[in-house]
Amino acid sequence: MAGLSLRSVKKSFGDVEVVHGVDLEIVDREFVVFVGPSGCGKSTLLRMIAGLEDITAGEIAIDGRVVNELDPKDRDIAMVFQDYALYPHMTVFENMAFSLRYRGIERGEIRRRVDEAARILDIEPYIARMPRQLSGGQRQRVAMGRAIVRDPKVFLFDEPLSNLDAKLRVQMRTEIKRLRERVATTTIYVTHDQVEAMTLADRIVILNHGRIEQIGTPEDVYDRPASTFVAGFIGAPPMNLLPATALPAERLSGARRPPQDLLVGVRPEHLVWAAGETPLIEGNASVVEPLGSDTLVSLDVAGQALVVRLPPRIVRRRGEAVRLTADPANLHFFDRTTGIRQTQ
Ligand SMILES: Nc1ncnc2c1ncn2[C@@H]1O[C@H](COP(=O)(O)OP(=O)(O)O)[C@@H](O)[C@H]1O
Ligand SMILES: [Mg+2]
Repeated sequence: MAGLSLRSVKKSFGDVEVVHGVDLEIVDREFVVFVGPSGCGKSTLLRMIAGLEDITAGEIAIDGRVVNELDPKDRDIAMVFQDYALYPHMTVFENMAFSLRYRGIERGEIRRRVDEAARILDIEPYIARMPRQLSGGQRQRVAMGRAIVRDPKVFLFDEPLSNLDAKLRVQMRTEIKRLRERVATTTIYVTHDQVEAMTLADRIVILNHGRIEQIGTPEDVYDRPASTFVAGFIGAPPMNLLPATALPAERLSGARRPPQDLLVGVRPEHLVWAAGETPLIEGNASVVEPLGSDTLVSLDVAGQALVVRLPPRIVRRRGEAVRLTADPANLHFFDRTTGIRQTQ
């Protein structure tokens, strides 16, 4: 097990720079999730850590040792991909044993490690099957088993669940979470799915266009998004962002700061029904989406679309009046030009 450091890591393909200087310290046993939209550089970063891509500039260190020039096989890293990449002509056992045989590990020890991984992953009954005889979820488990048996310093996962259907994805997410309690290896997990990121991570790294937008615990990035990008990416439906202008109070000296153009952010779940109180926001429901546990209501406020998550049955039909208020503590303020969070 080991920590991992990225220092000013950059990547260019030809003369196009796609990763623009990433700094990150991951501590031993930490589970870090890289999340961001397609094309933001998640896989490229992971592949540089694994040694599958050259590092254009900067340094990557594993366990304190710079690995820039080290071959993938010498980095003591195990990577799990989206497409499993199992050997089709080998049984589950052989798939998991393969890399250990290749390393010349003794037979008894191979059996011990594979049995242990199969037990942890609940794939003991399938150990003699061929990959084609397994479901998608079982194949993904074998792919993880292949990583576990190696007992590496670091696990890298690149969107391991994206080929699974929605239900299985949720189930495997829970299993990965459970797995973490049994195998506490330093892990970087890449996904474009913010729910996976929130549920699995000790810390989330939010990437956008080859740059880190924010690093924090799931609570940090949800409670205090550093930018409108993060505000829109973490949480579903995304945070509402409404243009507003801040008029600063007159200072003692008499000097005035110019008014500041802001975006005020409020999450759909933080807008509440104004029963008796004077509403902060009023409008008519344009779309009503009952989810059972709660209802999503869209409304139009002065030409601005807004989504609110309300308890069920308060608003039932399109066109009904909606009266909302919000705790000021749940409002977020961003600079309208830069999108950067303002300190208040
Ligand atoms: N081998 C390559 N050659 C040229 N451009 C690439 C290559 N691999 C990735 N890219 C580009 O680098 C950027 C980041 O890609 P990638 O790391 O795959 O993103 P993600 O995994 O976040 O979807 C994208 O613009 C992609 O087109
Ligand atoms: Mg990718």
